[in-house]
Amino acid sequence: MTHPWVADRTTVFNSSGIRKVFDLAAKLADPINLSIGQPDFDVPDEVKTACVEAIQTGKNGYALTQGTPILREKLQAQIDSEYGHADRKVFVSSGTSGGLVLAMMSMVNPGDEVILFDPFFVMYEPLVKLFGGKPILIDTYPDFRINLNRVADAITSQTKMILINSPANPTGITANETELKGLAELASTRRVALISDEIYRPFCYDEPFVSPATFNEETIVIDGFSKSHAMTGWRVGFVHGPSAVIETMIKLQQYSFVCAPQPAQWAGAVAMDTGVEKHIASYRKKRDLIVEGLSDLFELEKPGGAFYAFPKLPGCSGSDFVAKAIEKNVLLIPGNIFSRQDTHFRLSYATENTTLERGIDVMRSLAKAF
Ligand SMILES: Cc1ncc(COP(=O)(O)O)c(C=O)c1O
Repeated sequence: MTHPWVADRTTVFNSSGIRKVFDLAAKLADPINLSIGQPDFDVPDEVKTACVEAIQTGKNGYALTQGTPILREKLQAQIDSEYGHADRKVFVSSGTSGGLVLAMMSMVNPGDEVILFDPFFVMYEPLVKLFGGKPILIDTYPDFRINLNRVADAITSQTKMILINSPANPTGITANETELKGLAELASTRRVALISDEIYRPFCYDEPFVSPATFNEETIVIDGFSKSHAMTGWRVGFVHGPSAVIETMIKLQQYSFVCAPQPAQWAGAVAMDTGVEKHIASYRKKRDLIVEGLSDLFELEKPGGAFYAFPKLPGCSGSDFVAKAIEKNVLLIPGNIFSRQDTHFRLSYATENTTLERGIDVMRSLAKAF
């Protein structure tokens, strides 16, 4: 029963199932936790110092709605040099999530269809529904690749937007250049907005990162510092795309988030010059550890990026496997939290190698006993 004061729009989705796993984690003593969606490395020292200095030198007030100039201008220069698009403008959002909320709020009218790829990041479907949109899910099992024919068939006169995330949460799959170019061109010819959530951009292990914005000038890119520099709690993201859309998002930011935290924006400008290559190299090894440790007993598409793998134990549902794993003190996330299907489970390898090795041992023994 909802309370009579609670608005109808909040009842069209449930609270995130991931939170239930976190609540469970809090009750287990020293779990082998493979459920966490954030880096296990800390914010680089120079970035921390920049934040502390900003606080100590009084940069504590509201930032400009569109972002503190030191960060926004640096982002704009980088984006201009990367894309060279005449009408590509950036603003600083309150995390990537803030960018996603404002993108949906600015673009989705009630009844608009939004194409999502199943499995998808947990926030996408509720956000589409919150603004009265209709999520249209494209099934990408079993290899999690983009099938352009399926996308073309899913586009109707009601389609407003396609939302793509590569490298992807929960699968770790990176879309290749052919897929992204095809998707970008399809969106352009069918006059549908293409939103690209690029929060895992630095975490590419096999091929260089490719943005669909390279092939479609109107692509709206959402990115941020949460994963790249482990700044999940600092809430700094950014969005770039056609200026008229970005201006609308800034207008809505005025009446909602107001701004991203100012000290964290000063730190973001330093983060732009702070490479995370050594962490990426270590995460590539973790990815390899997982692939080598599970591939013979589980169905597993080799992840090319992010820090997730999305395996399946043949014959066992995702939630049954996660329940068995919890009995052995291993925390995973069932795939049905990200999907209409309950076949797979998500594991995050953003943790110490010793923890990963213990987790692999437990998963292997569960699979053998099944
Ligand atoms: C695909 C994807 N997009 C967006 C976010 C949210 O990021 P932020 O912390 O910057 O809001 C996440 C976080 O897990 C994510 O996995």
